[in-house]
Amino acid sequence: MKLWKCQVCGYIAEGDSAPETCPKCGVNKEKFTQVSEEDAAKIYRSDKTNDLHVQLIHLAMKMDAVAKAGIEDNLDPGCVHVFEAAKAHAWEIKQMAKAELAGHIAKGKY
Ligand SMILES: [Fe+2]
Repeated sequence: MKLWKCQVCGYIAEGDSAPETCPKCGVNKEKFTQVSEEDAAKIYRSDKTNDLHVQLIHLAMKMDAVAKAGIEDNLDPGCVHVFEAAKAHAWEIKQMAKAELAGHIAKGKY
């Protein structure tokens, strides 16, 4: 499948030809250029990994919410310690995953 990149906003479209208009920014098809085979391979290869990072970020957000509820519940110092540790780890995981995604985007792997 051919990939087409909007030169205005970076949107990547899939198809035999570029879309009539960009779904994201609305420019017409003349603003699209075909992605090279090498770059298309990078985009397809990283698609699953990027989705997994997004899932990880979502899980970290859930972990953060649970940790906040546990800290607020405040049953005893041992519990609060665990929830505070969970909150800190959730933040680290989320930021690490975001850094990976940012690196992928900078290298055209999106
Ligand atoms: Fe666009």
